[in-house]
Amino acid sequence: MKGAGTSSSKIYFYDVVDSTQDTARKLGPVEEFTTVVAREQTKGRGRSGRQWCSPPGGLWFTIVLYPGTPIRTHALLSLISSLSIVDAIEYMTGLRAHIKWPNDVYIGEKKVAGILVESDVVGEIMSKALVGIGVNLNIPLDSLPEELRDRATTLLEEYGRKIDEREFLLAVLREFKKHYEDYRAGHHQQLIDAVKGRMIMMGKIVSVYLDDAVITGLVEDLEINGSLVIRSKGDRVVLSPAQIKKLELV
Ligand code: BTN
Repeated sequence: MKGAGTSSSKIYFYDVVDSTQDTARKLGPVEEFTTVVAREQTKGRGRSGRQWCSPPGGLWFTIVLYPGTPIRTHALLSLISSLSIVDAIEYMTGLRAHIKWPNDVYIGEKKVAGILVESDVVGEIMSKALVGIGVNLNIPLDSLPEELRDRATTLLEEYGRKIDEREFLLAVLREFKKHYEDYRAGHHQQLIDAVKGRMIMMGKIVSVYLDDAVITGLVEDLEINGSLVIRSKGDRVVLSPAQIKKLELV
C-alpha cells in the first residue's frame, strides 16, 4: 500500500483488495476525503448485493465522507458522484457521457461506471458515507465477462487509448469536492439542475421495475432530494432510488 498526500486529503493505493469499501472502513476514523484505490478487487460489489467485476486496468476507489446531512438527501451523494465522473470523462477525453439515474454513467447505450454509496446513519443524519466508484478505465472490452459486453463498455474501448489513471482520479476528486461543497451548503436545486442536464432519460419513456410492479411512463422531473418523477397514465409517480430494481428506456 502506498499513501499520497494532497493539500486536503490522503489517497491510499493498494494492489489487490477484497473491496475498497471494506478497506476504507477498516482504516477507522480518517480525515474526510481520504480515498482508497485498488488496482484490482476480488470481491467488488455493486448495488443490490450484485458482484462488481473489477479486473486490473479499471479505476476502483472509495471516498470517505462525514456528511452530517439528513438521510433523505442520500440520493444526492450518488448523483453528485455521477456528475463528477461525467465531468471527468469529458475533461480527460472530450467524450460526452450521461447519467443514468440514479447511479450509473453511460456512454451511448453502455455503462462505463457505477456508484455504490454505503452510509452510517445516526437518527436521521448520515454520520459517515463511503462513496464507492468503479470506472471501466483502461480495460480491453474482451477482458470483461462475455455476458457484460453488450451492455457495458470501457474508456479504452470508447477513447481508443489509455488514460492516465491518477490524472483521471484527481479529476473526479476535484469535481466531487466542488459538488460536495455545494451539497453541504444546501445548494441542492443547483445540483439537481446540473444532473438533469446530463440525464439520458429526461423527457423519455421508461419502464421502472419495482419489487412487485412495473411502471411505464414519461420521465418528467427530478425532485430536490433526487427522487425521479414519472408521468404514468396521467398520474405523477415519485420514485426513490431504493425502490427501483431496474430502469430501462422503452
Ligand atoms: C453498481 O453499479 O452497482 C455500483 C458499482 C460500484 C463499484 C465500486 S468499485 C469501488 C467500490 N468498491 C466496491 O466493492 N464497489 C465500489
